[in-house]
Amino acid sequence: MSSASFNIISTSSSSNTATEPDVDAGTEQTRRTLLIGALATTACLGCSAASHAGEDAPGADERPQKGDLLVFSEGDQEGKVITSADLPRGGPPVHAWPKDPKTSVVRSGSRLNEILIIRLDPAELDDQTKARAVDGIIAYSAICSHAGCPVTAWVKSDVGDKEVFKCMCHNSEYDPRAGAQVVFGPAPRRLAALPLALADGSLSVAGNFIGKVGGQQPG
Ligand code: FES
Repeated sequence: MSSASFNIISTSSSSNTATEPDVDAGTEQTRRTLLIGALATTACLGCSAASHAGEDAPGADERPQKGDLLVFSEGDQEGKVITSADLPRGGPPVHAWPKDPKTSVVRSGSRLNEILIIRLDPAELDDQTKARAVDGIIAYSAICSHAGCPVTAWVKSDVGDKEVFKCMCHNSEYDPRAGAQVVFGPAPRRLAALPLALADGSLSVAGNFIGKVGGQQPG
């Protein structure tokens, strides 16, 4: 989804007026605007279709509920319940959806439900983060608080020597050891945190998101 956004930007800036010398600036501007609009509409239709696919099942677009299981949202193991054994200490994070254990509905009907789960050394966590963690495992919303792109990267910070969550749309960075506070970039606030529980190796949701989920402006 985020790569579609990036493609829109690069495609729209590639108009070459030198090949159409008889088109005046105003007309060219209008054409660019129409092109951007058409591409954006196409991208949004794609987002909408992906979203609606999960909305058919009741509860699929509801926020994570206490007791929900967590399943992989991507990759070879998509749909499989995540256990502590799936999370190597030190990262990288896995991307997850909540899943209602009673109905087996995966709550993928809203992109705002995607979650990042990571396991870190408990000694690295600040007190507040440690209180929400189970065995060093913590979870956050995967949606950037700037313009709502998905946070996709786990890379060394631009402002330190530790790895951080990074949103590649405008380079915002979040430190999961400190409640996912913003350490770099334009994001206005930390990622929402999701309390977890662990029983017999299986992870589950222990409560509602803490903090606002989503971006401050349309992505
Ligand atoms: S949407 Fe993430 S940094 Fe802008």
